[in-house]
Amino acid sequence: MLEKIDELLVEVQNFRSSAKDEIEQFRIRFNGKKGVLNDFFERFKEVPNEQKRDFGQKINSLKQAVNAKLEELKPSSQSQIIVEKEDLTRPAFPLELGSRHPINLVKNKIIDIFKSIGFAVADGPEIEDDWHNFTALNLPEYHPARDMQDTFFIEQNPDVLLRTHTSSVQIRYMENNEPPMRILAPGRVFRNEAVSSRSHCIFHQIEGLYIDENVSFADLKQTIQFFTTELFGKSKIRMRPSYFPFTEPSAEVDVYWGLNSETDYRITKGTGWLEIMGCGMVDPAVLKNVNIDPDKFSGYAFGMGIERIVMLLYQMSDIRMFFENDIRMLEQFKTL
Ligand code: PHE
Repeated sequence: MLEKIDELLVEVQNFRSSAKDEIEQFRIRFNGKKGVLNDFFERFKEVPNEQKRDFGQKINSLKQAVNAKLEELKPSSQSQIIVEKEDLTRPAFPLELGSRHPINLVKNKIIDIFKSIGFAVADGPEIEDDWHNFTALNLPEYHPARDMQDTFFIEQNPDVLLRTHTSSVQIRYMENNEPPMRILAPGRVFRNEAVSSRSHCIFHQIEGLYIDENVSFADLKQTIQFFTTELFGKSKIRMRPSYFPFTEPSAEVDVYWGLNSETDYRITKGTGWLEIMGCGMVDPAVLKNVNIDPDKFSGYAFGMGIERIVMLLYQMSDIRMFFENDIRMLEQFKTL
């Protein structure tokens, strides 16, 4: 019988399991009412007196081994074992860093370029009234040019609307400040346009305004040329006559992109030129609306869509990508 106990002792010591039911079976087999240990204690009576001492010691050591094993296999002590096996000197898992949205990256680049020549950033509300979005900008009620910016109205008479451009910020700034002034107005704008790969009902603009004595069209052209050189590395631009109610004369600016690759051919439709912004000399009527003397001061304004610039810089083909927030797209801007 002593040998049998020795065998069981080895079996207990070698028992390994992390399965709950196996551990429970083990406990019942040894510690249960009709288990191995109780069976030995029962039989203790029958053991001849001279063997009782050895036998008692053996059973006790088996009992201790069983209890130690059950303790070792308890769930909490198990996790301790796992922790001890971990290599605590191993470097931690790297934290996933977020990235700036491409719109913000490019917006900040544009702001930096204009900051270096003295422009400050101005802000204004996205919900506007008729005066700041239209009328003060020389777009009176019933003016056909209002149709160019199909508008989301929140209320009518008096009109409350989502701004269709950030020119409204320029009006607010001119109302509250004295020339000379050089500002940029970046922000979200809203137009009731069908969503497609090239247009969206929400997009971002950045507009600029410079008012001072003797500001000329030459200043405007040189500033834009400086900007395209800094942002795109391209200094060849052309200005095509255009129309905006708030500028006179007005122009569209094209930058010469070149025709060096398939992509250049595709995005410039084979011309080499890309349209990047609208601009012009601030109409004297606008200056009058904000109580700036047009005989003393003049100025220029320009405005561009940020999405369009981002799409050019990073060769993106679908404007909807900016609003989907697909991590696979956003991640690619991590290192920029
Ligand atoms: N506000 C014009 C637009 O949204 C852009 C622009 C700004 C044009 C300033 C000229 C001068 O279309």
